[in-house]
Amino acid sequence: MILGAITPKNIGDKRTTLHPQSIKAVLDMGIKVVFESGIGLQADIPDKALLELGAKSLSREECLKQADIILCSEPIKSDEIGLIKKGSSILGLLEPFNNKAQFKTHAEKGINSISMEFVPRITRAQKMDVLSSQSNLAGYVSVIESAKLLNSALPMMMTAAGTLKPARVFVIGVGVAGLQAIATAKRLGARVEAFDTRPIVEEQVKSLGAKFVKIDLGDTGQTDQGYAKELTQEQIDKQKELQADVCANSDIVITTAQLFGKPAPKLIDKKTIERMKPGSVIFDMAVESGGNVEGSIADSLQNLNGVKIIGYSNLSSFVSDHASFALSNNLINFIIDFYDKENAQMNFDLDDEIIKSSMFVKDGKILKKEFS
Ligand code: NAI
Repeated sequence: MILGAITPKNIGDKRTTLHPQSIKAVLDMGIKVVFESGIGLQADIPDKALLELGAKSLSREECLKQADIILCSEPIKSDEIGLIKKGSSILGLLEPFNNKAQFKTHAEKGINSISMEFVPRITRAQKMDVLSSQSNLAGYVSVIESAKLLNSALPMMMTAAGTLKPARVFVIGVGVAGLQAIATAKRLGARVEAFDTRPIVEEQVKSLGAKFVKIDLGDTGQTDQGYAKELTQEQIDKQKELQADVCANSDIVITTAQLFGKPAPKLIDKKTIERMKPGSVIFDMAVESGGNVEGSIADSLQNLNGVKIIGYSNLSSFVSDHASFALSNNLINFIIDFYDKENAQMNFDLDDEIIKSSMFVKDGKILKKEFS
């Protein structure tokens, strides 16, 4: 079996799906590895590091033609799908909600596709959880980038020149990214507060030494996959009103609130931003799924009455080596678990919970009605 990896076309995505520290395991299993020449350069990983391990460098076209499994961190455009052999499989971040049409093309060409975003959040699959591995780094990046734009230091400092107060950081949405943002801000010495609609999160916030902001929104709950449920407009309005004071008193507000497969809820409006101090920073981590903050724009830095609103995307790419290492490990772990060594091919058994949830196209058929 040949495993191939190609470079993302999105120039903001600096990751590689093939990290030298994770490919030894597949090479040892007898799987051949090919990659698009220059694949790791944006993460400062030279081809040499992969070649020395026994992987082979090819043109992009040859990679797509030869591979039985193609690793990618973005959907492959339809003009390149024709290069892929019938019966081969695409494994990666396929962003299904925004790229539904790709599955029809895969089915027509007889190519299998697996979306890593749909790997279920069960214990056995944690090592394959790309959403967690990348969100964790994104949470870290959000604090570092916010701190860079703040005109004050984060920790309290008692100096001969006077006491410098610690920065106040408010994190809205405490999933994987939010927890890492809290932990990073705490490590840097900030005073941290946080809120999430899932009440279960309160304990986690406290265990990191941060304060949980109590906002009673009535019944909120969570889905059986652990995701937040959508709030009613009334609940959102109430949340906005009750968290506005906390925003006004914060130096940095980081919003991470997302709803799986749906646009992000709008949680901070201009009225709230106008109450914030000039020089304070808002980081809208949900900008790619519609944004939590009024006025935030993807890949840009806005200024509203002196409040800086950050809407950077591809956040894990700010630490592209670590992001590539984690992403590559997630993908390789998937390969290892479903590789049938005896027949030197993948075993996509639809009775397996992970395959059932993440496989979109198999043997010319789209398996999920809502994506057909
Ligand atoms: P996400 O990226 O979908 O959303 C981020 C956070 O926003 C969530 O915590 C969500 O509750 C919150 N949110 C949504 N609407 C909000 C609002 N109006 N105000 C404030 N917060 C709001 O979430 P992520 O990071 O993917 O995690 C979702 C859950 O899955 C978490 O409970 C996480 O711990 C769990 N998880 C479980 C894993 C497992 O293997 N069992 C692995 C990874 C995550």
